[in-house]
Amino acid sequence: MIDYNSIIERYYDPATPLYDVLMVHSRQVAELAAQICERLIAQGVPVDADFVYEAAMLHDIGIVKTDADGIHCHGTEPYIKHGTLGRKMLDDMGLYRHALVCERHTGAGLSLNDIETQNLPLPHRDLLPVSVEEKIVCYADKFFSKTHLGEAPKPMERVRLSMARFGDESLQRFNEMAQMFGEISEYS
Ligand SMILES: [Fe+2]
Repeated sequence: MIDYNSIIERYYDPATPLYDVLMVHSRQVAELAAQICERLIAQGVPVDADFVYEAAMLHDIGIVKTDADGIHCHGTEPYIKHGTLGRKMLDDMGLYRHALVCERHTGAGLSLNDIETQNLPLPHRDLLPVSVEEKIVCYADKFFSKTHLGEAPKPMERVRLSMARFGDESLQRFNEMAQMFGEISEYS
C-alpha cells in the first residue's frame, strides 16, 4: 500500500478546513468504493481493492490548485481542471496508475466530444474511466458532495439528474456503471 496520508499532507495542512473537505469527502468515496469492490470480488470479478482505496483517497488531490471558495480552495485554476491537475501531481511522484484515476473521474468521465462542445479548458482527448478500478472511483464519487460535507449518499435519481445535465452520453455512461456496480440503495 502507498502512504496516501503523507502524500495528501504534502499539499494540505491538517489544520485547515480544506484538509477536512478533502479527507471527509475522499473517505466517503473510498468506503463506498471498498464496498463495491467487495461485492464484485464476491461475484468473481477481479478487482484490485487496495489500489481502489488508495486512488479514491487521492482522486481529488488536485482541488488545492483550483479556485473554489465554497470548498476552501484558494488556487488560481478553474475547478473543472482538478482532475488533470491531480494527474500531473501524481505523475510527478511516479504514481501513474493513480494519476489516471484523478484525470478520469469527473462527471461520468468526459469525452472529447463533451470537452469540445462545452468548450471546457481541458486537453482535447477522452478523459473517460477505462479500467474497472477507474470506473468504481468515478461512480462512488458521484454520491458524495464536498459542499454538503459528510452528508449521506445522494439518492440515485438526484445523481441521474445531475449527469443528464451534461448530456445523454454522460447519463448513459453513468447508467452503465450503475448496472455494473449496483444502485446506492444496495449499500449500507
Ligand atoms: Fe471527488
